Amino acid sequence: MIQRLSFGEPFIESRYIQDEADYTTPGHCILINLDIEKSILLEGVYSLPPLTAIRTCGTHIQVPGKALLICNAGTIDLTDLQTLDCLRKVWKSNWELTHLEKHRGVPYYKSSRITIDNITMNFCLVSEPNSPSGIHREHDGKIRELHVQLVGEGAVDLMRSEDPSSMFASLSLTAGTTHIPTWDVEGNYPWHRFRSKTRCIFLAVEIR
Ligand SMILES: [Fe+2]
Repeated sequence: MIQRLSFGEPFIESRYIQDEADYTTPGHCILINLDIEKSILLEGVYSLPPLTAIRTCGTHIQVPGKALLICNAGTIDLTDLQTLDCLRKVWKSNWELTHLEKHRGVPYYKSSRITIDNITMNFCLVSEPNSPSGIHREHDGKIRELHVQLVGEGAVDLMRSEDPSSMFASLSLTAGTTHIPTWDVEGNYPWHRFRSKTRCIFLAVEIR
């Protein structure tokens, strides 16, 4: 089953794929395996593990579980100020969404959220380089949290505490990649944050 999703439009074209044994990805895409157990088979020879991402180019895939295909992220130019303004008009800033004082002036802009079964997703633009999100370790319930980098570069920083100087490790993200899990066997997280390295867009994924 292939389902076109509208939550990134008009900027990002995405397709949700489930139980699809014979599909060829169009052009240059980013394929994200959203299944927590089943691998995706590429061209019959390469196995993409659960909760990982890869770039594809006209690739035959077999998806026994759940996946998301991002079709056009490579064409988004965040150095173009017109593009940036369009994104900032359509996607809502954290301040617009919450009116919390801590979000005033923070350059994070979110698309609408979508939930399919156990998976909730939204796109996020960070319109300034070197801009960290808030440091946190709690989420909305027990979730597996992933950040999939789509445009530009970022990182997920692991911290000893809420103090910004307490970083002890960093997971680098370039376009078309996600990070290894940051939760432990009990589903607990260290203090962490997302940080833009350049202007960037990532996909935030929560899997229950
Ligand atoms: Fe988080």
